[in-house]
Amino acid sequence: MNKLTAAITAVGGYVPEDKLTNFDLEKMVDTNDEWIRTRTGIEERRILKEPGKGSSDMAVPAIQEILRKKNLDPLDIDCVICATVTPDMVFPATANIICDKLGATNAWGYDMSAACSGFLYALTTGAMYIESGRFKKVIVVGVDKMSAIIDYTDRATCIIFGDGAGAVLLEPSTDDSGIQDSILRSDGSGRHYLHMKAGGSVKPATVETVMAKEHFAYQEGQAVFKFAVKGMADVSAELLERNGLTGDDIAWLVPHQANLRIIDATANRMGLPKEKVMINIQKYGNTTAATLPLCLWDWEKELKKGDNIVLAAFGGGFTWGATWVKWAYDGK
Ligand code: UT7
Repeated sequence: MNKLTAAITAVGGYVPEDKLTNFDLEKMVDTNDEWIRTRTGIEERRILKEPGKGSSDMAVPAIQEILRKKNLDPLDIDCVICATVTPDMVFPATANIICDKLGATNAWGYDMSAACSGFLYALTTGAMYIESGRFKKVIVVGVDKMSAIIDYTDRATCIIFGDGAGAVLLEPSTDDSGIQDSILRSDGSGRHYLHMKAGGSVKPATVETVMAKEHFAYQEGQAVFKFAVKGMADVSAELLERNGLTGDDIAWLVPHQANLRIIDATANRMGLPKEKVMINIQKYGNTTAATLPLCLWDWEKELKKGDNIVLAAFGGGFTWGATWVKWAYDGK
């Protein structure tokens, strides 16, 4: 029997209707459209404004799109892995809430906390359940409602982030398409540069932590930028090298959408022209765990069976990694 691989067999996505443009931000903080566009590549982001709605409310329609495309019943899903740093609640896991809202009562699931690399961590983990033969239909969803943890008076962070969800279905394949190889890394000493100061077990929420704005995302942008440029490019180059691939073999780079300059550096290092790089940062900003699947969602129609695709990410933790996927179906 051929070795089982985990193929991505469908993609779904969801972004909220409401747009927050650079021009809107000009009215909120001391910034301007030109600075944001040239330093990050971002023009607008989507914001989930409806009160009482959280990450699960974006993940559910993204997964429902997959069920529609594949003519599946929610009861067919074996497992849901939800990558997020903005869970609906500290506990239970957002994956459990998603399964309840979907009616996926045969599924088990859990959340994966690896910030901007969360989708890659979850994809690699989900692939192992398929490769082992244990499960046949695993949903991997990357979702973040970053607007819930952003201080809209802090120009260093509020210009960057947006809300959204993207999901993929993993199924067994015997024709060698699917997840081929992954390199995942972490370095917890990087936590000082990108984190949320309060609300965890070290510093539970108090009136003082709220007044000190310690429940918002804190980032030392320049420091993170330096690590991200090197981390994402190094790991992507290493993935190509250890599989005997060059830029010519790669159809698409799917990079985490944090900053256009980090994306360009990674593409250059891999020897890839801009036409082979998925970039949608201008319309969604940085949606943390959702950036990679939202790229696949936007480009699904252009992808062809057999395309070699490299997904690469860097984020809070620090966490980073790259995954080589052989695409399993024609998008059209
Ligand atoms: O996704 C998770 C991983 N995160 C990342 O990969 C993010 C990595 N970091 C970045 O993308 C960039 O560091 C930022 C986009 C966050 C910031 O860009 P930068 O080029 O590193 O800017 P900077 O922080 O070095 O600031 C340069 C200047 C400063 O002014 P002075 O000191 O030169 O006068 C800042 O005060 O730009 C100023 N500045 C702004 N000006 C207008 C900082 N933020 C803004 C702003 N609008 N929003």
